[in-house]
Amino acid sequence: MRNPQLNGDGSLQHLLTIEGLPREVLVHILDTAASFIGVTEREVKKVPLLRGKLVFNLFFEASTRTRTTFEIAAKRLSADVINLNITVSSSTKGETLLDTVDNLSAMHADMFVVRHSSSGAAHLIANHVASHVHVINAGDGRHAHPTQGLLDIYTIRHYKKDFSALSVAIVGDVLHSRVARSLIHALTTLGAPDVRVIGPRTLLPTGVEQLGVSVHHDMREGLADCDVVVMLRLQNERMKGPLLPSAQEFFKSYGLTPQKLALAKPDAIVMHPGPMNRGVEIDSSVADGPHSVILPQVTFGIAVRMAVMSILAGN
Ligand code: CP
Repeated sequence: MRNPQLNGDGSLQHLLTIEGLPREVLVHILDTAASFIGVTEREVKKVPLLRGKLVFNLFFEASTRTRTTFEIAAKRLSADVINLNITVSSSTKGETLLDTVDNLSAMHADMFVVRHSSSGAAHLIANHVASHVHVINAGDGRHAHPTQGLLDIYTIRHYKKDFSALSVAIVGDVLHSRVARSLIHALTTLGAPDVRVIGPRTLLPTGVEQLGVSVHHDMREGLADCDVVVMLRLQNERMKGPLLPSAQEFFKSYGLTPQKLALAKPDAIVMHPGPMNRGVEIDSSVADGPHSVILPQVTFGIAVRMAVMSILAGN
């Protein structure tokens, strides 16, 4: 079946999910991002690849990292960027999502970056807009967060070089995590042979092993000799009812401490998509410690988002 985010010639029309994207598309995005790292380190951090293009950031859910790095990325590509302030937009007066999109399209939008609490919101917009308009999913419900998955694999490739012998442990609230889903699809597409999810039964999706991961409920078993540890936040805003005895109990069993990290390889890296809840899923001594690459993830996010926008615009 044809992937709806790909054009007939295999080029990207939208970025909605990593699921089903061919390996060569992922590698092209990573290589393009690597070429933009130099731009982000120059004194004049601009290239004209999106000059004259109009990008709308539509964030119907809170964000610190994704919204700002998309804005920075678009500005570094010389686009005009509008951050629609949803809290004072006419969506508060009952305007539908598609009516909002139609009105912004009438202002000659070229690209929409969309975050929404409903899974499928970005797909809905992508199916609705004109063929010259591109849509990027910046996180939809618990479904997908493709640019986070891309910046995560960029970070892993930067530190570990190669995916072919890699063990990656993803720990915590996988059930509600669009980040975990996108990262799992990216890692399996790139051939990582050992992807593990670790968490209590209540926070792991039923049948998650069908995504090509192994399932662990004990940190000692799940972290043993892994190269990469990815910690996830408890996404209380997406939980329907209590799934855990308490945050303290969760930290005791699944919080990443120096003692638990010692089970991984000595050169293991620690990642977290943010926002972190210190003392819940990660101890500050690990979050701020020598294995942590949490802030470099954020920085790489700019080049990765530049790459996605530039590829969508046909560069
Ligand atoms: N990782 C991530 O999506 O962070 P924000 O919610 O701050 O954008």
